[in-house]
Amino acid sequence: MRRHLREREEDRDLTRVICELATASRYIINSIRTGELGVAGTSNLYGESQLKLDVLADRIIRKRMTHTGVIASIASEEDGEIQIIDPDGKYSLAFDPLDGSSLVDVNLAVGTIVGIYKGADVLSPGREMIGALYVLYGPRCTLVYSTGNGTHEFAMNALMEYTLVQENIQIAEQGNIYAPGGTRNQYTPGVEAFVSHLEERGSKLRYSGGFVPDINQVLIKGHGVFLYPHLKNLPRGKLRLLYELNPMAFLVEQAGGAASNGHQRILDLVPEGIEHREPVFIGSKADVAKVEELIRALES
Ligand code: AHG
Ligand code: MN
Ligand code: MN
Repeated sequence: MRRHLREREEDRDLTRVICELATASRYIINSIRTGELGVAGTSNLYGESQLKLDVLADRIIRKRMTHTGVIASIASEEDGEIQIIDPDGKYSLAFDPLDGSSLVDVNLAVGTIVGIYKGADVLSPGREMIGALYVLYGPRCTLVYSTGNGTHEFAMNALMEYTLVQENIQIAEQGNIYAPGGTRNQYTPGVEAFVSHLEERGSKLRYSGGFVPDINQVLIKGHGVFLYPHLKNLPRGKLRLLYELNPMAFLVEQAGGAASNGHQRILDLVPEGIEHREPVFIGSKADVAKVEELIRALES
């Protein structure tokens, strides 16, 4: 992966950040595979505090990132505030250290999601990002990144190094798989009409409940749509703009797909704060356009 970044003449410091994130993921995958599923705030027999895996993942990334010497600020889903590391730092990060951590006990796939910004401001629209990546901890450990020149997939080998699987992933205009989050009886008319439309078209339901594997499926199969819509009882949706949606929107757009909140491009939204949530429809362009059209027709 380092070679891939070098060949593409990426900035050396950015290369360093991405490679350090890749190294962090080795420790995270080890913790997932063999670590305690303990709850944060409790102590073990020896009086040592037990860490929830997502707190551990957060610490692993934070520590490595701080040591790069090029990070200005860090916003993590596990932290209530933005941490300033060095106001003159070159890059800032917004990350979800372990998305889907509640799926670890049932042994389903989980992931790490990271958005990279230039300068110190992570509260700018996602289109200002200069890079994004996710790591998927599944039966195999894979890493998908983009620095604005396509979206590329790597897989961890026996030496725990990431080697190239696929360069310039492409998402087809229309797909025949869909991953619908949230509770169907809470769907609003436009979203319900969209899902009925997909079913009538013969689209296959492919939902794992983990955002990273669900998005990875759309990217790697090269078609389909993921949605976690606004719900009647959850009008702002569930997923977080900073930590989850922006990085995925960046990666999917770089692969020729689209990401919308039903009305607007995700990457154009101005974050209202670190907790900002948004509905999301993401994947094949025509599918995203279709749901926007149905929401406009049936919900305004
Ligand atoms: P997190 O584990 O970081 O809180 O987020 C989990 C997310 C995401 O992985 C998935 O798409 C969604 O939550 C599923 O949520 P519900 O099962 O609550 O609908
Ligand atoms: Mn999450
Ligand atoms: Mn999380």
